[in-house]
Amino acid sequence: MKIQSIRGMNDIGESEIHLWHFVENKIRKLSEAYNFFEVRTPVLESTQLFKRSVGDTSDIVEKEMYTFTDRNGESLSLRPEGTASVARAVIEHNWAFETPGLKMYYLAPMFRHERPQKGRYRQFHQFGTELLGVEAPHADVEVIALAHALFQDLGIHGIELQISSVGCETCRPNYKKLLQDKLAPHKEKLCEDCQRRFDTNPMRVLDCKVKSCKEIAVELPGIVDHLCATCVTHFNGVRDGLIALQIPFRVNPKIVRGLDYYVRTAFEFINNDETLGAQSTVCGGGRYDRLIEQLGGKPTPAVGFGMGLERLTLLLETRKQELIPKVDLYCVVADEAARTRLQQVCFKLRSAGLRVEMDLQPKSMKSQLKRANKLQARYSLILGSQELEKQMALLKDMSQETQIEVPMDTIEKEILMRF
Ligand code: HAM
Repeated sequence: MKIQSIRGMNDIGESEIHLWHFVENKIRKLSEAYNFFEVRTPVLESTQLFKRSVGDTSDIVEKEMYTFTDRNGESLSLRPEGTASVARAVIEHNWAFETPGLKMYYLAPMFRHERPQKGRYRQFHQFGTELLGVEAPHADVEVIALAHALFQDLGIHGIELQISSVGCETCRPNYKKLLQDKLAPHKEKLCEDCQRRFDTNPMRVLDCKVKSCKEIAVELPGIVDHLCATCVTHFNGVRDGLIALQIPFRVNPKIVRGLDYYVRTAFEFINNDETLGAQSTVCGGGRYDRLIEQLGGKPTPAVGFGMGLERLTLLLETRKQELIPKVDLYCVVADEAARTRLQQVCFKLRSAGLRVEMDLQPKSMKSQLKRANKLQARYSLILGSQELEKQMALLKDMSQETQIEVPMDTIEKEILMRF
């Protein structure tokens, strides 16, 4: 039996990797411009960490984690998201205490046992940011601005920013009660999941994908009209901040994030065309002011987002071809006597930073030049025993279709001059 990759876990090969590098480079550059630094945490964490942060009743913890018992009998899980791990690390190393306004980002694989489809995988990659220690709405605006700027930078248009507030421990219980009152007469029409969550998390009905729940959800009140004064002030601050930066947004009072740690601001960047199939959310985030404390740290307000790299690259598919790097020089071995000398040329020019290619086993001139064309080489350098005798090589400009003779003893200089 052939061994194959695990369902929902993808290989990223030559045809895609250049697009990934393009996206990752933009992310790193922009994160640096916002003065976020990269944090790397382990892929495996104690299962308890996710139960206590993402939440026991969330889909992620209930149904989607890759959990196993290791050789010491400890329950471990592959991380389904990055916020919990960052929070754990911050507490463990006292980072937030040392730097108020701590700004971190990660580019890392996450694991969720979901039903795979376009834009939804079991191993996927997130660009995430976490900003800790600042309660002011300017922190929310800072992370939202970073996500917005990335879409601009990548040339991805037509993404809508939707924001909401999910309230706090003061106002949310009242809203929850209101929802339960409104939902009670329809309880038996709710899907199994929503019926089960009626007591613990009735807000999940608002973003349930089941038709009967959707019909009920349309009639439900949104939380933004039921916020306490502090949450209203905060939400207005976020809106004003976004307006000041001219970042367009729409208030969608029905945003319900699938993770339990959120308070106040919740936001999503949504792609509305067909490119992502049913998976239209490219980026999701919000505030989690209580999480650090819940995990045993000092009270530390925080806000962040996660962005799916597979979804980002799907949106950039049409650019795949143009992002394949072109070869600077292709060395053509006209006959075997010249191979070693050409490999020396390659060695030197590569150290000087040029992208240089050469076949490593005998091939006809025709097939070598064909490959040089395929790799869109700017120049090819042809060397055989005739040229070796004269100590002159042929340098061919592939786009101009012109060629000149260049002396072998200054060949590297001659080529470097052209770049
Ligand atoms: P999330 O909404 O669960 O939030 O995930 C964030 C993003 O990760 C989604 O918008 C999507 O682009 C991508 N994503 C999620 N699941 C999959 C999947 N199965 N396949 C492909 N892409 C996926 C979080 O994870 C929070 N930790 C975000 C956050 C950071 N909030 C505050 N700080």
